[in-house]
Amino acid sequence: MKIPFSPPYVDDDVLNEVQDTLKSGWITTGPKVKALEIETAQLASVSYALCVNSATSGLMLAMRWFGIGPGDEVIVPAYTYCATALAVIHLGATPIMVDIQDDFTLDVKDVEKKISSKTKAIIPVDIAGWPADYDALNQLVKREDILAMFDAQNDIQRVLGRLLILSDAAHSLGAIYKGLPTGRLADLTVFSFHAVKNITTAEGGCIAINLPNNFDHLDVYSVMRLMTLNGQTKDAFTKTKNGGWKYDIILAGFKMNMPDVCAAIGLAQIRKYNSIILPQRKKVANFYTQLFSKYNWAKLPMLLTNGIESSYHIFPLRIIGINENIRDAIIEDISRKGVAVNVHFIPMPMLTLFKSMSYDINDYPISYLNYSCEISLPIYPQLTIKQVEFIVNSIVESYEKIRKLEIKI
Ligand SMILES: Cc1ncc(COP(=O)(O)O)c(C=O)c1O
Repeated sequence: MKIPFSPPYVDDDVLNEVQDTLKSGWITTGPKVKALEIETAQLASVSYALCVNSATSGLMLAMRWFGIGPGDEVIVPAYTYCATALAVIHLGATPIMVDIQDDFTLDVKDVEKKISSKTKAIIPVDIAGWPADYDALNQLVKREDILAMFDAQNDIQRVLGRLLILSDAAHSLGAIYKGLPTGRLADLTVFSFHAVKNITTAEGGCIAINLPNNFDHLDVYSVMRLMTLNGQTKDAFTKTKNGGWKYDIILAGFKMNMPDVCAAIGLAQIRKYNSIILPQRKKVANFYTQLFSKYNWAKLPMLLTNGIESSYHIFPLRIIGINENIRDAIIEDISRKGVAVNVHFIPMPMLTLFKSMSYDINDYPISYLNYSCEISLPIYPQLTIKQVEFIVNSIVESYEKIRKLEIKI
């Protein structure tokens, strides 16, 4: 049986929505993007959300809006996809890495140790769809000694008056933290609509705005939108209207807008996210949990506890008592059976770029421990019960086979 890791969810509604865009005479940023922004804002329970061409762009844009640049530091977990740190590097700032907790999210105690007068923002990452410890983070940034350390360099930073919490929610659209959806847990939240994400636009992302009330959210949305379109006062869609050709460039913006033809895919999906796509992912996750529960070597991910619920984006199985080499051998064996699995993630300090910048994996022991025994299993709405059973049987067989071989060696 061949089981892909994460095929996109493309049904007739997606095809019709894309076709509608293609036939409409307008394929780049326009009404479909606006509609996707409204749907995303509703899901995140915020007033404004801005679509961009990737989550990486969204993180860069949010930090540029906050005025982060050379000389500044931004705290990120060592255990994430490289984009979290690269977005910081692209702005000329320095990522300061912290270790994670057992649940894969950043360790707030380590964050506290690494805050300095150069720190401007913290980027928690909701790995696999499991929200970080936002209560602890929100309390930390408002603590008197931490507030006193914050060195505001521009008007936006002065209005916030503290460290920005910028959530990397690439995985966690639809997750819930103590009654609130992701989008409402941090000042700014960046979702990814990349091809393998719960909702996709092929490539894309979205920034949910949840700043304190002394910010005018419509104004922040409008400035950020301008920043996605070269700082141009009129977007291409508005310019096509009769007599609307004149424009000005009022700031050095990026080119990070999402096209309508991409938004159309996500729009058809997001309309059935809560009714079909998310419940189906949850069903698969719960079935894995049930099937693995009799194996004491299987450590299952956090999915639903204490009012926190995952978005079921990744199913990070951990195998207790194995090392990196055994994990790799198990993956090779599973792959031979036709099941595509993955590892999320190789901690950044193990990657060449970050090693060359003097980050050292020995400084992040939990990141290494989690990485060395992790296998991400396929999880998507189209998976059948039979396929899930096949995946679990394949993993159990491979685990038992490799462990026996190991004993003989
Ligand atoms: C944790 C995390 N952050 C950021 C990104 C970047 O997302 P995008 O590909 O939309 O730029 C990813 C992509 O997989 C991710 O996993």
